[in-house]
Amino acid sequence: MVVLGETRGGFGVTPLCWLIQGGARGDQRLNQILADTQILYNLYKKHHWLMRGPTFYQLHLLLDKHAGEQLELVDAIAERVQTLGGVAVGDPRHVAEITVIPHPPNGCLVDTPLVETSRG
Ligand SMILES: [Fe+2]
Repeated sequence: MVVLGETRGGFGVTPLCWLIQGGARGDQRLNQILADTQILYNLYKKHHWLMRGPTFYQLHLLLDKHAGEQLELVDAIAERVQTLGGVAVGDPRHVAEITVIPHPPNGCLVDTPLVETSRG
């Protein structure tokens, strides 16, 4: 049994490591993380597209970079769920059902700090 925070062979066991190792219905918990990661990917892309203002280009590129990193995580987590014997959540409608990330308002968020700072 792996205890959270326990050290094995010089490596600390983080909660994510514990889940990846299959602890406590790891595939189901990983599917939760997989859903959240897919939502984050899509939110990065959304704001990549909607960004405007004098720092548009820099933030546009940065948000796309973060989206790409999230997409790599999506693939790694999904394949781990499959390895654990689970079924990776992939249908966006199912993702929307199980994510814990709050649904932001639709459209362009002109009053958020991110957009405000991008206006200079
Ligand atoms: Fe793009």
